[in-house]
Formats: sequence, C-alpha cells, structure tokens
Amino acid sequence: MLRRRAERMYEEELRLDEPIQWSSEEERTAAIAFFNAAYRAEESGLTQAHALADEVAGWDPDLAECLRLYGDEEGWHRKLLTKFIEHLGGDIRPMGRITGTFYKIYGRAKKVETIVLTNLMFETIGSTTYRLALRRATHPAVRQMLTILTRDESFHVPLNVHFLREALKRSPPSMRPRLNVVYHLLFVALLASAAASRRRAERFDRIPWKELSAAYAEHLARLFLHEKDLRFTPPAALLRLFGLDREALAASEDLSAVSVRAAEAAVDRERVTVKAL
Ligand SMILES: [Fe+2]
Ligand SMILES: [Fe+2]
Repeated sequence: MLRRRAERMYEEELRLDEPIQWSSEEERTAAIAFFNAAYRAEESGLTQAHALADEVAGWDPDLAECLRLYGDEEGWHRKLLTKFIEHLGGDIRPMGRITGTFYKIYGRAKKVETIVLTNLMFETIGSTTYRLALRRATHPAVRQMLTILTRDESFHVPLNVHFLREALKRSPPSMRPRLNVVYHLLFVALLASAAASRRRAERFDRIPWKELSAAYAEHLARLFLHEKDLRFTPPAALLRLFGLDREALAASEDLSAVSVRAAEAAVDRERVTVKAL
C-alpha cells in the first residue's frame, strides 16, 4: 500500500492561487504557529523513520522499506508545509523552549520500540488535532492542507501500530517496565502539550483546551484499549478527569483510523450532537 501511495503522492499539489482572508492579524499569526508545529512534527517523523529504516534493514528489509516510504510521506508533508507557510506570509521558525525540549528527548531515544511507541502516540494526537481543526476551517486552501494531513496521519496511525507490533516481537521482556513508563509519561506530556499549543494556535484552530485535551485522552486511550495485544493500559484515574471510562472506550468505535471522507462525515455529525466533555 505504501508503494502504491508513493507512486502518485507527488502529483497532488496545493492550490494556492487565492490569497487567504483572515479575520485578524492574530488569526494569521496563530495559523503560522499552528503549521510551524506541524512542520516540526513532520521533520522529526521523517528523520526518525529513516534512521529506523537503516537500523531495521539488517533484520527485516521489508519492514525497512515500509519505514523508508513512511518517512518519505512525512518528507512530502514537510515540503507542502514549507510552501503553505510561505503562502501564509510566514516562515519556518526556531522551536520554542517546550517543543525544543520535547524533540530533543525524543531525538535521543535509541531503542526501536521506544521510538515507534512515541511515534504512534504523536501520530494519534496529530490526526486528532488536524481533524478537529478541519471542523472549523473555512478557507479552501486551509481545508486542503488540513485534509491532506488528516487523511495521511490517520493512515499513519494503523501503520505505526504495525511497526510497534513488529518491534515488540523483538523487544526483550526487560524492556517492558521502561516502555510502560514511556507510555504513561507521554500520555501526560501530550495532554499538557494541548495546553501549551493553545497559547499560540487557538486563535486559528478555535479548539478550546478542554476539548483538545479530552480528545487527546480519548484517542490515546481508545487506540490502546482496542489493540490489546500491545499491552499498554491507559491511566484510569486520568481518564476519569475527562469523564472517560476504559470499558466504555473499549466498546466504542474508533474514528481516528479512517479516511478523510469518514473524518468529514464525523465533522457533520459532531455539528449535530455537540457533547460537553
Ligand atoms: Fe505527516
Ligand atoms: Fe505521520
């Protein structure tokens, strides 16, 4: 599937002929911050995927090719985002303190299973953010950019589940406690990142902190409750803070691992039933 996606990937172009009408300069600045964060996520995804591909090549050439093609998709996103940010009248900025620390720690991770677990959690919150932002976006160019990202990151979630499953097969039992710590730390850190990103991006994406962090908690929990064999259990007490329950989540359907058409359908559905979280 990755090979087939790669064949036609570069044919898709951003339609940037119309200038974007912003409601305020603050909204434009927030949009630049939003897509800068996306750019950094793509950059880090690309680097880690290609580094993993080199490492994995020795024991599983097919898996290595998957990782390489997956990294290429992130590289393509990075290219699109560079062009898009330019269209917004912005540029690629150096990372902020929190984001910088985040990626520095991630960049230092050496074990395949740790990297892939982190990636899977990043992809999950990435696709969640883009999908929520798509709900409010009106300008065609913004919608197109978000649609591409939503569609592809949604595909990257199940892909990374596959990578993690393969990595865990080769992971010694002694790694398990460490991986559980990483899972729980990241769970909390990613919820906190929702708060940090609100300061810079909320004027653009209009997703309130409560809604974004609750969506992160829900999707990070449901994914791992559904993929039971990975053996990562979301923290029940933390979920309760968001009014979420493990059993109910395990029984409910996952909307994150689907195409953009389903994502757009979910958008309309959300418009009809606005649930307080
Ligand atoms: Fe991406
Ligand atoms: Fe991705």
